[in-house]
Amino acid sequence: MTRPLIIAGAGIAGLWTALHAAPRRVILLTGAPLGQGASTAWAQGGVAAALGRDDAPDLHAADTIAAGAGLVDEAAAHILAEAGPGEVEALYALGAPFERSRNGEWALSREAAHSRARVARVKGDQAGAGILAALIAAVRAADHVEIREGWRADALLPASDGGCAGVLARRSDDALAPLEGDVVLATGSLCGLYAVTTTPWTSQGQALAMAAQLGAVIRDPEFVQFHPTAIDIGRDPTPLATEALRGEGAILIDRSGRRFMRAVHPQAELAPRDVVARAVHRQLRTGKGAFLDARAAVGEAFPERFPSVFAACMSAGIDPRVTPIPVAPASHYHMGGIATDLNGCTGVSGLYAVGECAAPGGHGANRLASNSLLDGLVFGRRAAEALRAAPARAVTAEPAEAAPALPGPALQRLRQVMSAEAGVERDGVGLARLIAVIDDLEARYGGAHALVAARLTAVAALARTESRGAHFRQDFPQTDADARSTRMTLEEARACAPRLSAAGAAE
Ligand code: SIN
Repeated sequence: MTRPLIIAGAGIAGLWTALHAAPRRVILLTGAPLGQGASTAWAQGGVAAALGRDDAPDLHAADTIAAGAGLVDEAAAHILAEAGPGEVEALYALGAPFERSRNGEWALSREAAHSRARVARVKGDQAGAGILAALIAAVRAADHVEIREGWRADALLPASDGGCAGVLARRSDDALAPLEGDVVLATGSLCGLYAVTTTPWTSQGQALAMAAQLGAVIRDPEFVQFHPTAIDIGRDPTPLATEALRGEGAILIDRSGRRFMRAVHPQAELAPRDVVARAVHRQLRTGKGAFLDARAAVGEAFPERFPSVFAACMSAGIDPRVTPIPVAPASHYHMGGIATDLNGCTGVSGLYAVGECAAPGGHGANRLASNSLLDGLVFGRRAAEALRAAPARAVTAEPAEAAPALPGPALQRLRQVMSAEAGVERDGVGLARLIAVIDDLEARYGGAHALVAARLTAVAALARTESRGAHFRQDFPQTDADARSTRMTLEEARACAPRLSAAGAAE
């Protein structure tokens, strides 16, 4: 009997991979009930794809490459852009209710750093929820997929050939169960390691940590994207005010009503996301305040056009038809991840990664808006195709140790320090302080996933002595002429941390 395929994670990438892996038998692990716990459900904008009459995949690829600030793998960007229209059509055929006119034209939103309106949307700002519902219905109906809700991957089982032989799963009753098979990691990002995040706070870099502990190479972990317009109402996680609002003409103003983005960038509110996030961060740091003003651009159409944002604002007593929305940057997407080729292979035999925990290279230093759901679709399908064709492996599994848990107060301490020292702006002294906190927590609680993922991020951020895309060093504001991607194993991160920390602390 061929080994099953174990897919850990049930967001867009995990589900799309599962659907396309047939006829392979899939065991799908999801810690939360299907539809909950995945950041996909909260995606507002939609799927970027060259669907408009004035658009073409080459234009989409060019915008993706430009946004990525020198670190985008051009082959990955072209694969993404070329596959985009077909993937949106495929989701629509599956039942995802994308908005289309009677004559079949797609309703397309404009988002920052796109040269065209190209974001296919669902019920205004409910793309993620609408797409996820269609995917869940399809997966539930698929005979080749066995869904195990309440099961999550806790560690990877080493294989006798030096690769991966399966996962050590933890069930909701806390019992551990080894499962043997080829593994696809699709458990999302590490953005929940920040105190202010738009993603589920349970997204703590689990896949990154498990893969790194098995020796996988991690690519560009220092590149964390901060969304500039999270709604600043003191919630954890914090609701998002989609960039499509700025695409509709909403503006960013300070407390006195002054529009501040015009002085920062020629594209003003539609400048690349990292530029807008830094501007909002500086407004807040200097006490001037930052508000998204959609009164003129959207006004009375708000409840119908942006129902999720409207509901979030109203729940905090803010009526965005008549009041500017207080905003703040929040961790939103991890461009870095487990290094993979263009088919999800990690270089560790039997181990694949897709979606936000993977880094095939399409996002570089700054992901273009609404390329994330697309990435999950395109690279999920490619990984499934590679797995269908992969030769059977005859390996035996070796035991793995369960991951230590990080107690709640320790996790909250880590999240605060990550936000303070590895946030929108960083410097060597702060990053060295962050590594000291990680060392301290690890000495007390062992190598919890959150600590491993935080360490990789902090060490790579300390090693990158330049500013590029979403990584801004106050002590190294220049962008080097030579754009280099980070590739690092956990062993290397541990080995170079003391030297880097000493240099950072001495600045
Ligand atoms: C948004 O709707 O602003 C977020 C879209 C994205 O992160 O790509």
